[in-house]
Amino acid sequence: MPVNYNRVAWFYDTLSRVVFGGAIVRAQTLYLPLLEAGDSILIVGGGTGWILERIANMSPKGFRITYVEASEEMIKRAKKRTIAQNEVFFINCPIEEFNSKNSFDVVITPFLFDNFLTHQAEKIFNHINKHLKNSGLWLYSDFRQPEKIWQKGMLKIMLLFFKLLCKVEANKLPDIETQFRKNNYTLREQKNFYKGFITARAYTSTQQ
Ligand SMILES: C[S@@+](CC[C@H](N)C(=O)[O-])C[C@H]1O[C@@H](n2cnc3c(N)ncnc32)[C@H](O)[C@@H]1O
Repeated sequence: MPVNYNRVAWFYDTLSRVVFGGAIVRAQTLYLPLLEAGDSILIVGGGTGWILERIANMSPKGFRITYVEASEEMIKRAKKRTIAQNEVFFINCPIEEFNSKNSFDVVITPFLFDNFLTHQAEKIFNHINKHLKNSGLWLYSDFRQPEKIWQKGMLKIMLLFFKLLCKVEANKLPDIETQFRKNNYTLREQKNFYKGFITARAYTSTQQ
């Protein structure tokens, strides 16, 4: 059964802001200033598309954005967003089914990987990796392996909640750091939020 966020689309943004007090938004937007004029960008799992409005408010503009989102309800909301002078191609399918001849200057995966078991996450990582240009930028934001007891408890509750409502199978966070290391990515910037439970990272690819 694939992950399906349709049932939570109408309250997802409010819930995430109430629970994490904006840390989820700050983590996803911190490194947007690294985008360069005219970049082609692949956003995977952008949810209701509020990030498109943040990008639209930036200068420079003129980005070509491909927005791949598995949930029909999420993408319906994303299509209503202001995109200013950017071009956005909305694609409603799981990223595993997306293929493009063109590779991208930037990929953005905001809180995508926490949905998957390690072997699924590895497959999805490799698939996205194929779509990023050499020396391309990968903006990754997600939860970090919990260190504190309250973080472990919170993660358990979150995964149970999304298992019941969205069929998320993950019962722990997948190890994505290893994937970046294995694929020769260089960590350019990093900042943690919410007492270290959330991370924002900017990686540069150095594929052969
Ligand atoms: C935890 S939500 C994060 C949404 C958004 N990035 C945010 O933080 O507000 C994960 C999003 O990833 C999408 N998603 C899950 N699996 C996906 C897949 N295989 N391909 C594309 N999108 C996926 C879900 O539909 C959902 O909108």
